[in-house]
Amino acid sequence: MIRSVVRGFGTALPKRVLTNRELESMVDTSDEWIVQRTGIRQRYIAGEGETTASLGAEAARAALDRAGLSPADIDLIIVATSTPDNTFPATAVNIQNRLGMSHGYAFDMQAVCSGFVYAMATADAYIRGGMARRVLVIGAETFSRILDWTDRTTCVLFGDGAGAVVLEALEGEGTVADRGVLTSQLRSDGAHRDKLYVDGGPSTTGTVGHLRMEGREVFKHAVGMITDVIVAAFDATGLSVDDLDWMVPHQANRRIIDGSAKKLGIPLEKVVVTVDLHGNTSAASIPLALAAAAGDGRIKEGDLVLLEAMGGGFTWGAVLLRW
Ligand code: ACO
Repeated sequence: MIRSVVRGFGTALPKRVLTNRELESMVDTSDEWIVQRTGIRQRYIAGEGETTASLGAEAARAALDRAGLSPADIDLIIVATSTPDNTFPATAVNIQNRLGMSHGYAFDMQAVCSGFVYAMATADAYIRGGMARRVLVIGAETFSRILDWTDRTTCVLFGDGAGAVVLEALEGEGTVADRGVLTSQLRSDGAHRDKLYVDGGPSTTGTVGHLRMEGREVFKHAVGMITDVIVAAFDATGLSVDDLDWMVPHQANRRIIDGSAKKLGIPLEKVVVTVDLHGNTSAASIPLALAAAAGDGRIKEGDLVLLEAMGGGFTWGAVLLRW
């Protein structure tokens, strides 16, 4: 049985760090409020010349280097983003070009904060379906460019960055002892559209728009949706929380992360948290967290790793994989 195995990972962050203290001079907020409600202490903000495609390409190069591969070895690039460089063409083809690739194919995936989970599930389906052997899966965002910097209820929460993994087809035994993606569970419900959206777009206003969110409403749904889809991933594989080595959640808010882990009985020592450093980087948050924990040796070959996310749409999903 073909499995999609993580062969390499990499990240990219903008040069500029924006601390909670600096935000105090921009809107009516405080370091204490932000830390207490979200766990965020700082975020990175893209400057001149830094875009979703430039950050995504940098993360992709780092992932290829770590895998000992070159762009010539890649068949497909999937970029999860809600902040593309342009409405079209896809940021994925922009990154393809920056990598000097003119073979293979590339497309974007739009599932907001769940984008990386959706992209991993899609890459795995393409690999198992024989349509690609090696896939660059990238989550890249510049949310700073769609924030209303006068709205303290949203501008303190988000940041910019990118993370990438190389997935490669490897032969497995067809058991849960195999390395690679073991199951993906995806969900969406468009009835929740108005709780988290951007108030512009090419076909409505002809503008880019700004992020709008009913934070309390998002919070209310988040833990239930996340835990349901994680339970579905365990049910699909016959594995349980006891088998889990690492939970790598979407980094939106420390309270959502802790609440989900607690509801599932996952010890907090097994949960990777980077929201303090990066804020919510939407589709980039999981690969940034994954790279932090794999890079410092916490995640080791053979470990069972759970990725999960929930975001605008609403969309939500989980991927269970063996590293
Ligand atoms: N600084 C200081 N005060 C603030 C700020 C701020 N940045 N933002 C809001 N407040 C005030 C509000 O105006 C309100 O004041 P009031 O009581 O005088 O009206 C008070 O703080 C409480 O506001 P709430 O919205 O009730 O605060 P809450 O405890 O719900 O925290 C938060 C807000 C952090 C946004 C929370 O609701 C949350 O985390 N929601 C989830 C949103 C999220 O993570 N979205 C990410 C995208 S989706 C995803 O990735 C899962």
